[in-house]
Amino acid sequence: MLAIIGGSGLTTLSNLDVSHREVVRTPYGEPSGALVFGQICGRPAMFLPRHGYGHTIAPHMVNYCANLWALHHYRATGVISVASVGGIRGDLQPGDLVLPHQIIDYTWGRKSTFFEGNGSPVRHIDFTEPYDGDLRQRIRAAANELAIDLKVGAVYAATQGPRLETAAEIDRLERDGADVVGMTGMPEAVLARELELPYAAVNVVANHAAGRGSSANGIHFEQLEEVLQGAMGQVRLLIEHLVGCQPENGG
Ligand code: HPA
Repeated sequence: MLAIIGGSGLTTLSNLDVSHREVVRTPYGEPSGALVFGQICGRPAMFLPRHGYGHTIAPHMVNYCANLWALHHYRATGVISVASVGGIRGDLQPGDLVLPHQIIDYTWGRKSTFFEGNGSPVRHIDFTEPYDGDLRQRIRAAANELAIDLKVGAVYAATQGPRLETAAEIDRLERDGADVVGMTGMPEAVLARELELPYAAVNVVANHAAGRGSSANGIHFEQLEEVLQGAMGQVRLLIEHLVGCQPENGG
């Protein structure tokens, strides 16, 4: 069963016909909220809002270990992470959907491995390709079939937040090769890898990154919500297609 982790702008999955909710206790504490199980056009799916149902958990406070552990425990076969980002690359506009292929991690102080403590042996996992190739391919195919404009390939910079970046920080991220910037992509991706859970992300560009384009003189929060809501409609369509809905039966 596919799991969806929703970020800002996607705290509920309105196309999910909810069957039940599970409050999960994990060895790592509590996930961001109850896991929601249900069906999308008859196909099973589960959903977890990364920032909690009231959008109260800041990016650096999210219990990523508990979230991933819970999805794995309930036998998710793959995880689609939906997350908003700032656009650094010149062609990216607010409202665009992006399928990242690489990550640079600038976060700090977050618990970012399951492999520590209790005398457990040191383990190093391969993370050359941080996102699952098959899942990315499926997302790409779904976008193609639905004629959704998805920008394929982007380097995602994960920053600590919760504050947004300075213009100079964005210049530095660009020099490092980053195309988009967000606050939650790590350690989520690596924890999924440690659990051998196929994981891919769909990023929604909420704004030009600090100092760029319409954010040249600051990031204007009033516009963010509107942009996200518009784009999330497309994300919902993508998810429907990914779980196996056919466009002609309402999906
Ligand atoms: N920076 C970091 N995270 C974000 C941004 C941004 O500009 N927009 C949405 N999430």
